[in-house]
Amino acid sequence: MCYDKKKPRKTNKTVVCLITFSVFLLIICACLLSVLVFVGKYILYNACDNYKKSFVVNRQVLPQKTYWRLPNDTEPVLYDINLLPNLFSGLYKGSVNITVNVNSYRSDIVLHSDGLVISDVVLYTGDLKNFPILNIKEKSEFQVIVITTKRKILPGLYYIFVKFEGRLFGKFKGFYRSHYKSSINGDRQIATSKFEPTYARQAFPCFDEPNLKAKYKVHLLKPKNNSYIALSNYPVASTEDYDEEHELVTFDETVSMSTYLSCFIVSDFDHTKTTFDNNGTMIPLKVYASPDNLYKTTYAAEIGKKVIEHYVNYFDIPYPLPKLDLVAIPDFVSGAMEHWGLVTFRETALLYTNTTHSTANKQRVATVIAHELAHSWFGNLVTMNWWNDLWLNEGFASYIEYKGALAAEPTWGMMEQFIISEMHSVLSLDATLSSHPIVQTVLTPDQITAIFDSISYNKGASILRMLEATVGEKIFQRGVKNYLNRHAYGNAVTKDLIEELQILYGNKLDVAEMLETFTVQMGYPILNVTVSGDIYTLTQKRFLIDPNATYNLNETKYRYKWSVPVTYVTDMGKSTEPILFKYNDDYITIKKPTGATWIKFNYDQIGYYRVNYPLSEWDNIIKNYDSLSKGDKTHLLEETFKIAEAGLLSYKVPLELSKKLKNERDYTPWSAGSNNLLSILNRLGSTKSEQESSFKDYLINIVTPAYKEFTWTENENDSHLNKLTRTVVISLACKAGYKDCLEQAEKKFDTWMKDRQFISPDLKSFVYIYGSTKASVETWNALLQIYQDENDASEKLKIMAGLCNVENVDLLKKLLEVTKNESIVRSQDYFDVLQTMSSNPIGTDLVWDFVRSNWQYLADRFTLNNRYLGSMIPTITSSFSTEEKLKEMEEFFEKYPNAGAGEANRKTALENVKNNIRWAANYKEIIEDWIINNKTI
Ligand code: BES
Ligand code: ZN
Repeated sequence: MCYDKKKPRKTNKTVVCLITFSVFLLIICACLLSVLVFVGKYILYNACDNYKKSFVVNRQVLPQKTYWRLPNDTEPVLYDINLLPNLFSGLYKGSVNITVNVNSYRSDIVLHSDGLVISDVVLYTGDLKNFPILNIKEKSEFQVIVITTKRKILPGLYYIFVKFEGRLFGKFKGFYRSHYKSSINGDRQIATSKFEPTYARQAFPCFDEPNLKAKYKVHLLKPKNNSYIALSNYPVASTEDYDEEHELVTFDETVSMSTYLSCFIVSDFDHTKTTFDNNGTMIPLKVYASPDNLYKTTYAAEIGKKVIEHYVNYFDIPYPLPKLDLVAIPDFVSGAMEHWGLVTFRETALLYTNTTHSTANKQRVATVIAHELAHSWFGNLVTMNWWNDLWLNEGFASYIEYKGALAAEPTWGMMEQFIISEMHSVLSLDATLSSHPIVQTVLTPDQITAIFDSISYNKGASILRMLEATVGEKIFQRGVKNYLNRHAYGNAVTKDLIEELQILYGNKLDVAEMLETFTVQMGYPILNVTVSGDIYTLTQKRFLIDPNATYNLNETKYRYKWSVPVTYVTDMGKSTEPILFKYNDDYITIKKPTGATWIKFNYDQIGYYRVNYPLSEWDNIIKNYDSLSKGDKTHLLEETFKIAEAGLLSYKVPLELSKKLKNERDYTPWSAGSNNLLSILNRLGSTKSEQESSFKDYLINIVTPAYKEFTWTENENDSHLNKLTRTVVISLACKAGYKDCLEQAEKKFDTWMKDRQFISPDLKSFVYIYGSTKASVETWNALLQIYQDENDASEKLKIMAGLCNVENVDLLKKLLEVTKNESIVRSQDYFDVLQTMSSNPIGTDLVWDFVRSNWQYLADRFTLNNRYLGSMIPTITSSFSTEEKLKEMEEFFEKYPNAGAGEANRKTALENVKNNIRWAANYKEIIEDWIINNKTI
């Protein structure tokens, strides 16, 4: 080939030059770019490191090295879990493969794990490449493990594989073992779980916070023989052989849910089956129990079906899962737990049969089911973002349960029962300085456990009832539906709920502000009424049972004033719309409707506040007692006593009002009146009043007509409410020492001990308690043996109440020791024994001494995180009324300064005792004077 070398050369030179220049430019650009990238990364890394140093908790920035909140940039997507329990050794092996989304640059992954032995941790990238781990540190004080990587983790999808081992025995939370005695097979072991609020981390490594929702693919090992089955939140997908003796059961993948809702059960339980209509699709509903208890599951199935069908309609949102199981667990730390699709219960809260169980037992079953099933929407579908807003779960379920129970059992008067069962107790607690706001900052597991209290449950429910009455049932229902739809499969805060209601209600009323005055500050107001002609002027003040208690108004932005929806009822009817008494108004005036002869504010005690009137108005209302609704009567029979106790009203008013009980036959007024009268009787007793027996005469006097009408003989046509009233009346009569009542109990007890003659389930408690008071050592021992042989959980509690109420101190001492033996008294019933014995005046000091000298034993056995250990303190000290006792309590708390989840309970206990002391000083004599003049009416 011939060519001119020069030309091309020349051209080549230019090209080379151009290329060289371009390469040079490129290099410069690349350098610049890498500098930019480096600087960018540096900034990002720093930001991310700074983030890591300060986990954001409830808008507060916590110091470095606090792991109470997980970094929220690592989100679990799916847990693929294997759990291989060995029911006999009480140990289990497990592994979990967690798919996570990392949303920013990190050099570690932090997840929860508590008490597990971790043997293997592998981190994979989204394309299944091994991601090198530098080290794995367990920070047991925060219940987390920290996986630190060798390189920075870039945002993206990862898999964390963890192999671990744990124990099932010796605990009642996390994944644990329960047992029962079968009439055919003897001792049986089962594995079960309970995770709320912070115990999923005890079962498997996980991101154990309510807003870190993920799906679950569960594989559970179960024995092949002895009819063992495995249950989890979803239906079984497949079963495969694992070894000679075991099968591995795989379940369908769940929807996205919080860790605390997952549940795993291996048992040999049997079930009753029904279905429910889920907007046209039939869904299986099964009620499981140990085979001997199977016949007690039919009522639960019937109620479960009715309640859930009602909810599907009410929320107008289908039940989101393909199955629903309810299971009675022999050892269960709570009353019940709403694991999605696999709700677990104490046996006492699920099993019912009319030959063994009382009317109260039946109602408990219905209301607990109604409560737990409400959580399928409130809590499970939409979950509180963090435990601060627990009331969104528990307050809601505690209110909606009444709607569910009402739908299933329309004759039970559930809405009036709300007043006595939910409202009255919390109004007392919330009138103390040791109360707390509904929405409260919590961080540690102890703080989280502690807010599962009556403020979240009962006050939460009461506020919702008031809210519904304010905005109207329709708007409330639609608002709730919109809230659920908007946040379905996600999380919410209090504001989210209010916003939905406000949108529907419009600007007529500031719903947000009204509700906030009740959620962000503790306590509630008392409205003071003054009258001028037909004009009623209302002012407000915080209600405290101790009128001299001091507090700082600046603690809250509303300065302890509330926006109160005021309602009233007169002989002309009810007010149509609530009148808002805004927190920043000094007073409001209301005109009594023309022609009305009396007016009572806060009809049916729907509002969460109290009302005090001038004496003439009180007289007028009480004079018209018979024209009032059951709710209003119930209201007055509680409120007058409490206002008197706070020093704002003469005790004469409630005591005179109590005379109305002579002609009363309805359950809720009787219940409220009886509770308050008995509280006076107890106070007279614990202050050794000379008038105690005269007050008993008074009580016998007012209870006699009802007692004679209801009698110990049941009527076939007795309504549910009649049966409940009978129990209140008999209980009061026996407590007041009514001769016939005690004789009946003794007679029935003797014949029962001799030949097990049938006792009506409603009367059993009275027979066991009052029939055995003076029992001989032999009889008491025989009763203890009956307790041990009895397998029904509710029946056992009733017998235990008998064992706790004897007069013989030595027997009580023996019982305290016997109760420590787990093979005689299940741990779940332990505190019940202490509390019941302490309510026996002869046992009060005994229990107190026992608790003080065995505190370390109790703390070791139950842990300070146990909510019942904490809540026992105010109960067993509730009758103390001397400086000496107060000092003992203070010294005891000083000796054991760590109260765990029971810190607030201790404050409440102290405040209650101070109030008792004050009561004795201020009112004892006044009441004694009244008794002297009224013991026979
Ligand atoms: N979610 C709770 C169970 C629970 C209670 C978990 C306390 C953690 C701490 C359940 O829905 C519930 O509220 N159970 C009640 C009984 C219910 C009928 C009021 C309980 O166990 O006391
Ligand atoms: Zn609940």
